[in-house]
Amino acid sequence: MEVTPSILTADFSRLGETLEEAIAAGIDWIHMDVMDGNWVVNRTITFGPALIRSVRDRLGSEVTIDCHLMITNAEETWDQYVDAGVDMVIAHIEAVGDFPALIENLHDAGVQAGCVLNPDTPAEDVFPFLQDLDLVLVMSIVPGKGGQQFMPEVEDKVRAFRAAIDAQSAAGGRATKLMIDGGVKDHNAAMIAEWGIDIAVVGSGLINDRGTIAENLAAITAALDE
Ligand code: DX5
Ligand code: ZN
Repeated sequence: MEVTPSILTADFSRLGETLEEAIAAGIDWIHMDVMDGNWVVNRTITFGPALIRSVRDRLGSEVTIDCHLMITNAEETWDQYVDAGVDMVIAHIEAVGDFPALIENLHDAGVQAGCVLNPDTPAEDVFPFLQDLDLVLVMSIVPGKGGQQFMPEVEDKVRAFRAAIDAQSAAGGRATKLMIDGGVKDHNAAMIAEWGIDIAVVGSGLINDRGTIAENLAAITAALDE
């Protein structure tokens, strides 16, 4: 299982150094959480395309950057994130009317398409267009902020996606990646890896006052190796 940092607990005044520290520790995928002050329940604003552009320019093209759009109008504004240099746009199924059309637009623009579901949204809502998705992201918290408690009740949904994706790729279809986001720490990393997650977003478990990113990542890696 791969790990990608969410930067929400970072000191934004020294974000570039923090991300370079993550890359030096072996990270090659950065997860950028965009909130527009409207869509998430706590009405948080994080950042937009300008910051993502700065991060892309600083880190270069080797690192993968996804943007997790927690915004009301992803269908109209996705191209701003493509212009900012992301490799993948991950939009919420609950916030998009015509998801297949969004996937087509993203693929035509040359970027990967991801779909994210809130904890109470069923996997079945995504199955009709799973074959066209590059990534499915299962939220294991209610989106809005880092540092929340992991919700183990998403296990069945993760396993349902794992089975569907394995069947799809065995039949010659796309090997859609499976990601989880929210409350992932060293103590639950092995469990979610066993569920079949390919990539875990880790925010407060990676960027915190308790250790360096390298130390925190090493603790997660050690837990996975046990
Ligand atoms: C919250 C974001 C998450 C969050 C994860 O809405 O999508 O990426 O920052 O943070 P932790 O790992 O602290 O739960
Ligand atoms: Zn996220």
